[in-house]
Amino acid sequence: MSRYLTFLAIVVVAVIGFLGFQGKTSKQTPIYVFDDMDYQPKYKAQGENTFFADGRDARPPVAGSVARGTGLEPTKVFSAEYRRAESLNASFVTGKDEKGNFLLDFPAKSLTFLSSGELQPYTIDSKVLELGRAKYQIYCAVCHGDAADGNGIMKVRSAIEGDIAINTIANLQTAIYRAYPQGQIYDVINNGKNTMMPYGDKLSPEERWAVVAYLRALQLSQFSPPEITPASIKATAK
Ligand code: HEC
Repeated sequence: MSRYLTFLAIVVVAVIGFLGFQGKTSKQTPIYVFDDMDYQPKYKAQGENTFFADGRDARPPVAGSVARGTGLEPTKVFSAEYRRAESLNASFVTGKDEKGNFLLDFPAKSLTFLSSGELQPYTIDSKVLELGRAKYQIYCAVCHGDAADGNGIMKVRSAIEGDIAINTIANLQTAIYRAYPQGQIYDVINNGKNTMMPYGDKLSPEERWAVVAYLRALQLSQFSPPEITPASIKATAK
């Protein structure tokens, strides 16, 4: 009988031990009996990979390939008209002037022809900002955060998982990035920078400038110079 009871006790403890704490959260490192799918061979964004010469997990798209289902609609960007607009207004596509310097300001002309055959002036209106907001939310906020302060979910997660690599995510609210020429921000989006992947294959030139404009709006939301701050706000800030 006592043997039976001992056996029963072991079974009860074992069953509770294995199954009783399933689904409970804890800050302790778990003891893995079954590792489920927690450990699996996989590549992580921003992870290291010794297989490739540049050491990055995230791979750039094959040169010359055009992804489908992105802002870069092949029928548009390869159309003769778009090509002609690009050749007339190269700095809209590169973010640089004829001498190769970053454009200090937004481009003067767009890539859209007016009925007169001239290129339409490029203006930043609420539609452009809305486009920029949408694209920023999709492509940038994960790392740089909704407020561009570098505290996106990637940083939060990497802190939890102890991945120091992602601490390099830039805080775009710092003075150095506020002082960047518009063309230099555009260039980072287009070509990437150090550990940041390029987004030129995912965003059309118009979308890249829209993201630059939205990023400027985010920066202004945190560092509004006195001359553009409305008097009513100044009064309440005192
Ligand atoms: C997967 C994470 C990630 C995403 C998504 C991302 N970035 Fe970055 N970004 C970084 C990291 C990391 C750096 C710092 C790069 C370095 O200098 O090592 C950086 C740097 C920058 C810089 C400063 C570059 C410089 O010259 O120092 C700008 C501007 C920037 N990002 C803008 C953007 C914009 C705009 C987007 C969206 C189109 C974006 N980033 C999307 C990770 C990201």
